[in-house]
Amino acid sequence: MNKKYRKAIIAGNWKMNLLPSQVKPYAEELRNLMPKSKTCEVALCVPFTHISTLRRSLKDNRIAIGAQDVSLYEKGAYTGEISAEMLADLNVNYVIVGHSECRQYHGDTDIDVGRKAAALLEKGMSPIICVGESLDQRERGLTVDHIRYQVLAAMSSIPEEKVRQCVIAYEPIWAIGTGKTATPEEAQEVCETIRAVIRSKSGARTARSVSILYGGSMNSSNAFELLSMPDIDGGLIGGASLKPSEFSKIIGAVAEVTGEEQK
Ligand code: 13P
Repeated sequence: MNKKYRKAIIAGNWKMNLLPSQVKPYAEELRNLMPKSKTCEVALCVPFTHISTLRRSLKDNRIAIGAQDVSLYEKGAYTGEISAEMLADLNVNYVIVGHSECRQYHGDTDIDVGRKAAALLEKGMSPIICVGESLDQRERGLTVDHIRYQVLAAMSSIPEEKVRQCVIAYEPIWAIGTGKTATPEEAQEVCETIRAVIRSKSGARTARSVSILYGGSMNSSNAFELLSMPDIDGGLIGGASLKPSEFSKIIGAVAEVTGEEQK
């Protein structure tokens, strides 16, 4: 984590969990528990049905609002889809694109991911672009090549001047929801590669300002070690974001790493 050049971000991804009626009590509990931090941005990426309630429950802007996907299309006859403009109208700040679950269950390709990210940037939101290798790819030594390909493919649709508003999340598929985390060194190696890819495409200034997150079984016990790595600027947290007590401890780990005083 390098707070001089880029934001630390702890984002919860609720996936398809918790009910709309649970949003308000969750938000109240989290607001009471979470440490005040000047250096860490906290975001909650909730189901579309929860966004308005979350916005009303937060009262101030200490927590940013996130969504978990967006349509490839702008508007019109796309039953069941949610457009970038609709999310912008709800003042959404971050939107996850290319999560491995969307790639697996909805068939999102690397090109789709780039187009979705571009549509979000156009409407003033930051995409959280997810990349990650399967266990088979890791075991065959293909991790770095695969990640390089995924990042470049997504970036190919993004205008150069908007690259610095992107967030990249490295989520090894084998670590998601399994309780197996990448070691800090494994995660750092890939996050360093991601930054090098951005550097080669968009230059050093842009590369050093893009926040790169790690996701995959991150919790309050392993967050400090992962966040201590120089190219890991935060976390995208699934299961451990569902309980405010656990999620706030992960937010606290950022303050520990950066040496910020906790209040
Ligand atoms: P878990 O933290 O539950 O492994 O999920 C990670 C993830 O997929 C976040 O997007």
